Amino acid sequence: MKYIHLFLLMVALLFAAEVRADSIKGMAETIKKPISLKAEKSHLLNVTFNHTSHRGISCFTCHHMPSEKNGRYVSCSQCHKAVGRSKNAQSLFAAFHDKESKHSCYACHLKKAKEMPELYATTFVNCRPCHSRMTNAIQGPMTIKASKSQLMDVTFNHSSHQGINCFTCHHRVSDKGRYVGCEECHVSMGRSQEKNSTFNAFHSKSSSHACYACHLKKVENNPERFGSIFYNCRPCHQGARAAKSK
Ligand code: HEC
Ligand code: HEC
Ligand code: HEC
Ligand code: HEC
Ligand code: HEC
Ligand code: HEC
Ligand code: HEC
Ligand code: HEC
Repeated sequence: MKYIHLFLLMVALLFAAEVRADSIKGMAETIKKPISLKAEKSHLLNVTFNHTSHRGISCFTCHHMPSEKNGRYVSCSQCHKAVGRSKNAQSLFAAFHDKESKHSCYACHLKKAKEMPELYATTFVNCRPCHSRMTNAIQGPMTIKASKSQLMDVTFNHSSHQGINCFTCHHRVSDKGRYVGCEECHVSMGRSQEKNSTFNAFHSKSSSHACYACHLKKVENNPERFGSIFYNCRPCHQGARAAKSK
């Protein structure tokens, strides 16, 4: 009898450990993807929130209070239930727009714009970047134009790169802000080996910011999944390939 209890206890513990590991994994996956915060009235006010652009900020700054139900990392709306533009501390509007609280989105952005105007004065102005087209700008495909032949154009989709930190690619801030085309700085054209050439930005085999380096690493780590899609100049220079097979 005693042994059966012990056995059941062990099974219970094993199970609990597994469930916990699962949820930590689930959480890690959740914060890799953009979260769409839906507006009540108009979809134009929807906000796309990326954990990846808030790397380095303590989780508890925003997730400031644990819920009794299932821990700290829950939707703000679980507690901030009051609707409309209410100043009530428990309203959802206050959670996002309060100008003083350190837990609020808007307060932190206003503070950044004040402290570091050279970086944020243009990005964090009025209702930007939350209610703006910036976040919409990264929804669709982008064509990165080749200098010589259109066949070398590359179509880049942010959506295929969702789990990756924005900063992996957008690794430096220019006068115009962080999220600008790579050519803003990578100006030297042609197959130059200079670090700031456009060619290196996309094809360096060693830098963590480069397209090619990451794709090569994926093939090395997971040949079954990536070996057949990431080889030669694929999947980037598809135009050249399509033209060849015609
Ligand atoms: C730092 C980010 C941020 C900034 C800046 C910001 N908001 Fe918001 N706002 C949000 C979030 C998040 C929501 C919740 C999602 C939603 O309802 O759109 C929201 C929701 C709203 C809503 C409710 C929409 C609805 O129908 O439910 C209004 C109104 C609003 N914001 C107005 C403004 C105005 C006006 C400004 C500029 C003065 C502004 N916001 C600046 C993040 C921000
Ligand atoms: C800058 C503010 C901010 C920071 C920092 C932040 N989060 Fe979040 N997190 C949010 C917002 C906003 C949501 C979406 C809430 C909603 O849907 O109402 C969210 C959602 C989540 C969710 C999904 C909750 C659910 O039930 O859907 C998890 C899990 C989570 N965050 C974990 C984390 C972890 C772990 C960290 C630290 C590594 C972290 N967050 C840092 C603001 C933040
Ligand atoms: C478990 C419940 C709970 C969750 C989840 C929660 N909050 Fe709160 N929040 C509160 C309570 C209660 C208050 C009022 C008391 C206080 O200031 O601590 C508050 C106050 C705030 C304030 C201060 C508002 C003001 O007008 O002073 C902000 C900002 C805020 N929360 C943001 C957030 C954000 C952003 C999230 C989601 C990432 C979030 N909260 C999730 C319970 C919660
Ligand atoms: C403690 C400070 C802080 C808080 C709190 C914070 N942000 Fe930010 N946010 C930043 C900084 C800093 C950046 C710019 C990162 C960069 O590009 O250098 C940023 C960037 C952004 C961007 C532009 C990049 C992108 O992912 O599209 C959006 C949108 C945004 N924040 C929305 C929000 C929302 C919504 C909340 C609240 C749920 C929030 N922020 C809370 C500091 C903060
Ligand atoms: C992971 C994506 C990726 C891979 C793989 C890749 N490239 Fe590129 N390449 C780009 C991007 C992005 C550009 C910039 C846009 C453009 O010029 O086509 C570019 C530009 C070029 C250019 C300059 C074209 C011009 O006229 O400006 C050449 C030449 C080039 N790549 C050759 C190659 C060759 C050869 C391979 C295979 C060994 C290769 N690339 C693999 C992403 C990639
Ligand atoms: C895998 C690399 C990669 C990641 C990750 C990435 N981007 Fe980009 N982003 C690019 C490239 C490449 C371009 C197009 C640059 C060009 O045209 O030269 C771009 C363009 C943009 C633009 C348009 C710039 C303009 O001037 O038109 C915005 C806005 C942007 N990214 C925001 C973001 C945000 C926000 C994140 C994180 C949520 C992010 N990006 C993550 C590579 C990346
Ligand atoms: C604000 C200017 C600026 C912007 C914008 C910028 N870079 Fe860079 N990048 C640099 C400078 C300067 C260097 C050389 C010094 C260094 O490594 O940081 C560099 C180096 C690199 C390297 C390392 C090259 C090597 O051979 O070691 C890669 C890869 C790279 N950038 C990719 C990108 C990509 C991809 C984008 C666009 C998503 C981008 N960069 C946007 C300024 C910028
Ligand atoms: C940190 C890693 C990483 C970086 C950096 C990166 N990629 Fe990717 N890329 C991936 C992964 C992973 C996939 C596969 C996504 C899937 O199929 O789930 C992918 C898929 C692609 C695809 C095929 C899917 C599609 O959208 O057509 C293209 C094209 C591509 N990447 C181009 C680029 C270009 C151009 C850059 C640089 C501006 C870049 N990648 C930078 C990891 C990366």
